[in-house]
Amino acid sequence: MAALLSPQAAIAQQVHVTSNGLTATANGVTLEVTALEQDKLRIREWRTTPPEDASWAVLPASRTSRIPVSADTNGFHTQQLAVQVGDNLHLIIRDRDGHILQEDAGPTVWRGDSFRVYKQRGENEHFFGLGDKPGPLDRTGQAFTLWNTDSFGWQESTDPIYKSIPFFLGEEGGRYFGVLFDNTWRTWFDFGRENDAEYSFGSQDGPIDYYFLYGPEPRSVMAAYAWLTGPAPLPPLWSFGFQQSRYSYSPESQLMDVASRLRKDKIPADALWLDIDFQKDNMPFTVDPRRFPNFPEMVSQLARDHFHLIVIADLHIAHKPNADYAPFDTGTAGDHFVKNPDGTPYIGPVWPGPSVFPDFTRQQTRQWFGTLYKDFVHDGVSGFWDDMNEPAVFRYPSKTMPLDVQHRIDEPGFATRTMSHREAHNIFGMQNSRATYDGVLTLRPNERPYVMTRASYAGGQRYAVTWTGDNSSTWNHLRMTIPQLVNLGLSGFSFAGADVGGFAGSPPADLLTKWLEVAAFQPIDRDHSAKGTRMHEPWVDGPEHEAMRRRYIEERYRLLPYIYTVAEETSRDGMPMMRPLFMEFPHAANDGTPMDLATGGAEFLLGPNLLIAPNPSPEEVAPYELHLPPGRWYDYWTGTQAGTAGKAQARDAEVRDTLLQNQQILLKPELATVPVYVRGGAILPLQSLVQSTDETPKGPLTLRVYVPAQNQPCEGSLYADDGHSLNYRRGDYFRIKASCEVAADGAVTVTLSAPEGSYRLQWESIRVELAGSAHTPAKATIDGKDFPVSENNHLPGVTFARSAKPTRITFP
Ligand code: GLC
Repeated sequence: MAALLSPQAAIAQQVHVTSNGLTATANGVTLEVTALEQDKLRIREWRTTPPEDASWAVLPASRTSRIPVSADTNGFHTQQLAVQVGDNLHLIIRDRDGHILQEDAGPTVWRGDSFRVYKQRGENEHFFGLGDKPGPLDRTGQAFTLWNTDSFGWQESTDPIYKSIPFFLGEEGGRYFGVLFDNTWRTWFDFGRENDAEYSFGSQDGPIDYYFLYGPEPRSVMAAYAWLTGPAPLPPLWSFGFQQSRYSYSPESQLMDVASRLRKDKIPADALWLDIDFQKDNMPFTVDPRRFPNFPEMVSQLARDHFHLIVIADLHIAHKPNADYAPFDTGTAGDHFVKNPDGTPYIGPVWPGPSVFPDFTRQQTRQWFGTLYKDFVHDGVSGFWDDMNEPAVFRYPSKTMPLDVQHRIDEPGFATRTMSHREAHNIFGMQNSRATYDGVLTLRPNERPYVMTRASYAGGQRYAVTWTGDNSSTWNHLRMTIPQLVNLGLSGFSFAGADVGGFAGSPPADLLTKWLEVAAFQPIDRDHSAKGTRMHEPWVDGPEHEAMRRRYIEERYRLLPYIYTVAEETSRDGMPMMRPLFMEFPHAANDGTPMDLATGGAEFLLGPNLLIAPNPSPEEVAPYELHLPPGRWYDYWTGTQAGTAGKAQARDAEVRDTLLQNQQILLKPELATVPVYVRGGAILPLQSLVQSTDETPKGPLTLRVYVPAQNQPCEGSLYADDGHSLNYRRGDYFRIKASCEVAADGAVTVTLSAPEGSYRLQWESIRVELAGSAHTPAKATIDGKDFPVSENNHLPGVTFARSAKPTRITFP
């Protein structure tokens, strides 16, 4: 074969290696590969002229980053990757050991303006991410369309739904990489559905512009994605408390009743939500004076009761000329609405009836929109809910505006031009939430804005948290919260939740109970329900159910120091709060197969150390298998080492042995319990119970050390700050790192670092306690001095005054 010089063979000669990558041309198509960093590439391809070099998703500094590369024949290499271009622009990316990480399956196929890029899929290659798509955690064997869609009542196979996050992770042989396909038009992804030897992505139009981010560890892929598109900023502490919502609490007295019942029943809570019926005739940025006659006073009263209020403020502006409706009047005066091709404003029906739509891809329009929050901010409203921003428009079968509606781009870094809705659609919601975030930040400059958006695009995590839209009150939807939220976290949207109890339909009591239990371990814990369904608040099914539900919400509050520490990590390096097992244990299987394939994605980690294992078939009563990652694990609820009880439960000896070997345990589902495990070697920061994050927890901060086997890693940390301002960005935070060592005789030594940062921690004393120590010593030494050991929930520990210096605690 080598002797046959095909016409294409000559084409490879045209590979031109540059100082930062290469360009190659064949059949009128140009391929450009740029090394942004040693393990990050940008790949562009075009037919005539290079597309505009601009992005809504990627940070300019990352997009324009460059490193020098070393030339090879028909390619180049960096310290971590080798790139080669063969005949017909055949692109191969390898690691430096020669493993193929990504290889074209054939040339890009163009049809008019649309195109598709084909890659070879390894036999055991798996895919994760892609935002809020329902269905299994592993995207393999599935195909998806990205087109933001208002999907009331979506089900497992519904596609597309609200968000377009064109980012996915690929894995084979334990080597992970990420791909961001930065194209705002309608895009398609196929992960081996059409042909299991290939995966592909393409679009109706727009650029071929994608980024290859190499791990090999999945953690590095997340860090790379955060580097590329920006991490999600740290939300306020209160947003990790329990949140109660409904479509809609109205009038005011109903909202206040919910607030006082939460306090009276001692269900810890931090936030209440107002949906569209608090507005006058559903007009955004208004308050119905009849049903909410004392709005500012009501917000103050809620604040006195330690509740934050979040209000909906949809983007559609009611088309109300001459009606004294300022958003319409000022928006019209400023020419801020999108237009039909004939230049007239586009008008479409949404909640308030005929509406106009801000042109969010214009900087001036976003600034104007941001000013609309002024009164709410002045009244003390804490957060804003950007709904319906796909954008949803009623009456059309497409559920959105006509594709020829004109948007204007007027934005630093972009050419000033108009674009059709076809091109703008998938970034519309993201730019809406950007306007809200920036606007609220301008109005309250040193406070963290809290914005929740329904639609978004890659990079949208810089502006808003999200939720999974109009799910349903079914057991299957409870189950689906896990893969869906995990995949959102893998797509940059770590701060996400699903409507607890389900939006559409009325959950039976057991379902609502189980949902409230599981959601206590998810990043956003917000109970929300649709109009016309039965009420969802924790007390609606009587005291027994309420007690089970309260117990889990309480546990969330005890865990808040840990939850917040994990959230802060997300905001720095993009590690999702809710993690698949492979994120922390990528090498659990010898061949690198992600563990989550065995669990079906039913188990998840909250941060590095907590493993939550709800029943994968939540409505069933048969025992189910728990798969624990390698190493020692503890039962969170009892503090005892996991395994022993479960092993005894296995029906026969053979089952018992298999389970033992594979770290599997048989669990019997119970309504009142969600199994939770803690990694041996974890040091968990915990606090005493509070009713809201406003309350100062009594007693010490607890650092609970889950004793590892000897010579195994043991570490943890605590991050704290004032919970609401941006002062932490200027060093006003508190961080300590903790580690432990187990001696041959079982003695445990815990070391706390000197605190970092200028923030004064609210706890003056710290208790270090042990779970799983071989014995209970009568005393411990702290920096050489004896201290008495006391028991708390059967766990031995010592309490001491917080110090500015490193501290060493030894339990002999
Ligand atoms: C949409 C939202 C839902 C909200 C409703 C009314 O359906 O997804 O959460 O309650 O609109 O605003």
